[in-house]
Amino acid sequence: MKITVVGAGAVGATCADNIARRELAEEVVILDIKEGFAEGKALDIMQTASLCGFDTRVKGVTNDYAATAGSDVVVVTSGIPRKPGMTREELIGTNARIVETVCKNALEYSPNAIIVVISNPMDTMTYLALKSTGLPKNRIIGMGGILDSARFKCYLQKELKCSANDLQATVIGGHGDTTMIPLTRLASINGTPVSNMLSAETLKQVAADTMVGGATLTKLLGTSAWYAPGAAGAELVESIIRNQKKVFPCCVYLEGEYGQNDICLGVPVVIGSNGWESIIDFKLNEEEQAAFNKSAEAVRNMNGVLSTLVA
Ligand code: 2OP
Repeated sequence: MKITVVGAGAVGATCADNIARRELAEEVVILDIKEGFAEGKALDIMQTASLCGFDTRVKGVTNDYAATAGSDVVVVTSGIPRKPGMTREELIGTNARIVETVCKNALEYSPNAIIVVISNPMDTMTYLALKSTGLPKNRIIGMGGILDSARFKCYLQKELKCSANDLQATVIGGHGDTTMIPLTRLASINGTPVSNMLSAETLKQVAADTMVGGATLTKLLGTSAWYAPGAAGAELVESIIRNQKKVFPCCVYLEGEYGQNDICLGVPVVIGSNGWESIIDFKLNEEEQAAFNKSAEAVRNMNGVLSTLVA
């Protein structure tokens, strides 16, 4: 197995590091346009091999797509990250051109790859990747919901003082501060609804904190987060590479599911060696469906901006 991570910034390098530690492939290639940058990150990761006990080879290249040839999965993290006070959506102009070019170049050398999109605004970049490459819909997966769900579990864990590993909690909808939908009704601790243990007010606060989870970190760090986004990317790649059929909320192309069409949005999907293999189309309650429709409207408006940017 071979995995390429495009973008050697903090998210890309952390994702590659997590992939190597999990030994998901014989080779991981990190590609960046900045001369020597990916080479440096890859060498640094390789120097942890004997410390962390992995045999995956990590190689860095400067804009050399030939070195990525034959990749099974390509993770796209390239683009500019947001700065404090910025929304993910404000990145669209710069990142759209980058994501389109990266997908085209990567597919030239890895025509069978599954593409994982992490670049922001992620829902629109996933839609762009699908439309610009013309790949079958199951091979384009946007990573946002896994990260948002991990943040949701983190805030729940703090309130419940339990193990984060005992929590089931899902965030669907867009990967935006106002478009994501933490499904508090369905969150459980090993099957027991958390609504039995936390007040409605606390749950509301947990959901609100989850929605601005990325923005909170951007404010603290001066740039966007990387540990959780990188680990979430690796978690998704693992289910593809090992054909685990795990269910994650991912941004995928909807054709009628959840009442939406011609849009990429976060819903629970089964992830295996074919990419996203099926959508779990369960019935939301009225309030959740209304929030989902509102989220879709915001993402659709953002997708509309694409036609003004990409020739
Ligand atoms: C985040 O939420 C980078 O979008 C990513 O941290």
